[in-house]
Amino acid sequence: MKITVVGAGNVGATTAQRLAEREIAEEIVLIDIMEGLPQGKALDIYESAPVLGFDTKVTGSNDYQTTAGSHIAVITAGLARKPGMSREDLLQKNSAIVGGVTDQLLAHSPDIIIIVVSNPLDIMCSVALAKSGLPSTRVIGMAGILDTARFRAFIALELGVSVRDIQALVLGGHGDAMVPLVRYTTISGIPLADLLDAQRIDALVDRTRKGGIEIVNLLKTGSAYYAPSAAAAEMVEAIVLNQRRQLPCSALLSGEYGLDGIYMGVPCILGKNGLEKIIEVDVTAEEAAALKKSADAVKATLGQLKL
Ligand code: LAC
Repeated sequence: MKITVVGAGNVGATTAQRLAEREIAEEIVLIDIMEGLPQGKALDIYESAPVLGFDTKVTGSNDYQTTAGSHIAVITAGLARKPGMSREDLLQKNSAIVGGVTDQLLAHSPDIIIIVVSNPLDIMCSVALAKSGLPSTRVIGMAGILDTARFRAFIALELGVSVRDIQALVLGGHGDAMVPLVRYTTISGIPLADLLDAQRIDALVDRTRKGGIEIVNLLKTGSAYYAPSAAAAEMVEAIVLNQRRQLPCSALLSGEYGLDGIYMGVPCILGKNGLEKIIEVDVTAEEAAALKKSADAVKATLGQLKL
């Protein structure tokens, strides 16, 4: 098993580190256009192996030849947001970058499974799908796990309970209109609404929606990477180990939730073939309206690109 991580910035390098430490692949290849950067970070990660005790080979390269025969690629390449920028501000530059990366990956690994992390996320999935010609089961986006993890973290802080006991579901695009489904959020089976009043829940939902920009505003020089890389690694692991985890991911919709032809966050089963299944849950009229609003935002951004 060989896994490629494209982009040796904070998200990419941290993803490579997390995957190497999990020892779920024989080799992790870290790719970047910047000379020396992927080589240096890969060597640094590998030099932690004797201390941490993992045998994953970690290779850094500027040449896609090194990625040949990869089973999975995580695309993190592209610009990150700075304060004052929306994810959509990255559209034109990142679609050119993600398109180019996809071409190069496919040239050396025609049956690869692609996990997209670059922003604007749902749109970059459409770019990778169009460029690769892969079936949509092999092009999946990482956003829902991150958004859900933020919601879970905020609930844990609020209630003073372990994050482990909190289950949540966030649907929709990876943008300000994302839809945290409070009805499906439980603490060891107890609905969140039984433990917290509506006003507090609304505040946590709002903080989740703005979770990305909260980090951008604090860091000032870039966006989040510890939580995004943890989420990407969880997806890779579910596929490599054929775990059939049910995780919220960005998937191409073909009629599910009344939507067609766009990528959006929905509950997915991940296994050895990539996206094994999209799960459709019942949504109330209000939730459906919120999802439509989120889908309209994704469509509007997608409409700015010629794919
Ligand atoms: C975030 C960026 C990575 O949500 O989209 O932090």
